[in-house]
Amino acid sequence: MRTQVGIVGAGPAGLVLSHLLHLQGIESVILESRERSYVEERVRAGVLEQGTVDLLTEMGVGERLRREGLVHHGVNLRFGRRTHRIDFADLTGGKGVTIYSQHEVVKDLIAARLKTNGQILFEAADVRIGEFEHAEGASRPRIHFRHEGKDQELECDFIAGCDGFHGICRPSVPAAAWTLFERVYPFAWLGILAEAPPSMEELIYANSERGFALLSMRTPQISRLYVQCDPEEDLANWPDEKIWQELQVRLASDDGWKLTEGPVIQKGITGMRSFVVEPMRYGKLFLAGDAAHIVPPTGAKGLNLAVADVRILARAFEDFYSRGSAERLQQYSATCLRRVWKVQRFSWWMTSMLHRFPDENAFDHRRQLAELDYITGSRAGQTTLAENYVGLPLD
Ligand code: APR
Ligand code: PHB
Repeated sequence: MRTQVGIVGAGPAGLVLSHLLHLQGIESVILESRERSYVEERVRAGVLEQGTVDLLTEMGVGERLRREGLVHHGVNLRFGRRTHRIDFADLTGGKGVTIYSQHEVVKDLIAARLKTNGQILFEAADVRIGEFEHAEGASRPRIHFRHEGKDQELECDFIAGCDGFHGICRPSVPAAAWTLFERVYPFAWLGILAEAPPSMEELIYANSERGFALLSMRTPQISRLYVQCDPEEDLANWPDEKIWQELQVRLASDDGWKLTEGPVIQKGITGMRSFVVEPMRYGKLFLAGDAAHIVPPTGAKGLNLAVADVRILARAFEDFYSRGSAERLQQYSATCLRRVWKVQRFSWWMTSMLHRFPDENAFDHRRQLAELDYITGSRAGQTTLAENYVGLPLD
């Protein structure tokens, strides 16, 4: 089997890349280790920047998103039992975000890819990559895998490593070729999906004495809520009543607001880390999305950052195939990393401002509350949050 770009991973990064390439007349094949239903049902974040929505729309996969997505023109920060709205529309010239689950985006992308005869091989086992080490020259990268009981090989011009944080592409490169930057946070998020109408029109990020809490949503009937917990926490210690109790206390306010409860339909614990690998290219292998970087979920940037990477990568491949220019491919890593680091900074900052740290002292806590007071009280502070939240410019 051969193709132009071999893509490992059918998450948002791999799927958006494959479809963008298709629209430019470039062939690709996606190898995905999981089955289709797993990928389509995996619960993740659900906040899309304006730039992500615009790109999906331009790609022809924005129809359901436009119909079912909830457009938000602000978020709420809650601390000291008071609510402070950050008005994105006013602060950023009309911009906003769209609430639409990542797995719905994935479903739409898979449907679009299959409708245009895109090749996605689900349940590809033992995926290994080779012969990608040399950026120049005639050597052709290969992806070996097992599919439907047969050992197979995909020969390609380039490999896109879109296989997430735990994928095989990054570890296939000698460790000495990468520089890793990492911070693991001393807390996690316990998240639930609940059959309860969202208790507020827009998200609430709460810094409370008992730790962080977030009210988000999926649809007008389904709420998504999180509480900060210990990273070693066992879900068994968190019966539904205890989660609601904790959410009630952490989200409580003095303005008459009430949290509506409902049956919990899903729950899980997510660890929090910031991670970047540099460079994002090795020979003919290009890393994109979670394979190259992870952000903590405060600010909901993971999917948006993955989409920003592959947009840059697709453009670089277009230059290569249509004009014979490798310049954008050479600049791929540097171009992505400038944006990646700004988004890392924002996600780290939101995380630091909103969580209780086990080793913080009284000074740290007062300083944190003063920061929230400053950010919500100053137009400059609000703008800093708003312009990052709706998404920095793509170029
Ligand atoms: N072979 C083939 N596929 C693999 C392998 C492998 N060895 N290892 C992992 N994969 C697949 C995973 O099953 C997954 O479907 O790669 C895909 C990676 O997708 P994501 O983890 O969703 O990563 P990405 O596409 O970069 O999207 C980033 O997803 O992780 C969230 O919060 C993150 O929103 C962000 C977004
Ligand atoms: C979510 O809805 O899952 C969500 C929203 C905002 C975040 C993180 C997750 O910052």
